[in-house]
Amino acid sequence: MDDYTDFIKTNLSKPIVLVGMMGAGKTHIGRLLAKNLELEFHDSDSLIEEKAGMPVPEIFEVFGEDKFRSSEELTILDLLEKPPCVIATGGGAVMNEAVLKALQERSISLWLDADIEDIYERIKDHKNRPLLQTENPKETLRILMEERRALYEKAAITVTTKPG
Ligand code: S3P
Repeated sequence: MDDYTDFIKTNLSKPIVLVGMMGAGKTHIGRLLAKNLELEFHDSDSLIEEKAGMPVPEIFEVFGEDKFRSSEELTILDLLEKPPCVIATGGGAVMNEAVLKALQERSISLWLDADIEDIYERIKDHKNRPLLQTENPKETLRILMEERRALYEKAAITVTTKPG
């Protein structure tokens, strides 16, 4: 660990929470960041899946989006009680007022801002995003981004990503 990462780790008093659209790379980057900082990594979607004993699309199908969102709220609020760590959230987490408030007060939030075209290219062949099972997933992504942009912008840090 270099002096810079050592400094960050020593002075970190809150979890670092990655927010942003699906396919922005929150889980991937979150894992790398946690590894570099030698911190624990948590992924809210994975924890919700563990609790429900089924994958996200099935949770949507069997219990509906509202139940998923309640579980997402509980899971993220719980994670924010943990000592400094890195947390990746689902793309819609910021839509929940209590979650957004908690993120602002009790985390260092980091928005991974990715271009819709890049996101679409990355996830177009995946079927694991229930909200994108529409006739025009790219347009759905665009609409979701417009609904959420102002909320993502509240993050303490914005990192604009480009495909490597
Ligand atoms: C969602 C994003 C997904 C998952 C669920 C809903 C959203 O997580 O939580 O499908 O509302 O944007 P990722 O952002 O990890 O894909």
